[in-house]
Amino acid sequence: TYVVTENCIKCKYMDCVEVCPVDCFYAGENMLVIHPDECIDCGVCEPECPAEAIVPDSDGKASAWIEKNREFATLWPNMTRKGTPPADADEWKDRDGKAELFSP
Ligand code: SF4
Ligand code: F3S
Repeated sequence: TYVVTENCIKCKYMDCVEVCPVDCFYAGENMLVIHPDECIDCGVCEPECPAEAIVPDSDGKASAWIEKNREFATLWPNMTRKGTPPADADEWKDRDGKAELFSP
């Protein structure tokens, strides 16, 4: 499965939502997650994310986020259409240390 990681926090571009063939993204206040049981591993979302937030679960960057994706995909609403990203999304892109801003 693919995993959304901390790079998504406060960027939330949602380009990923546009391309996912199975609509398996779920939206929290400031980031999205992927439902691991619904993702078909097609990989099309990975290059679409401007923040490079999406990685395969085999990637080292995924490890801290695998459980969060699984947990919050069952709690947050499904997102099937791209909405408007935060106005300051570009300012948060490529910033380190966003994990502590995760909003459950
Ligand atoms: Fe959707 Fe494919 Fe990305 Fe999985 S890998 S979240 S199925 S676009
Ligand atoms: Fe987040 Fe990237 Fe999608 S910033 S909302 S994973 S396009």
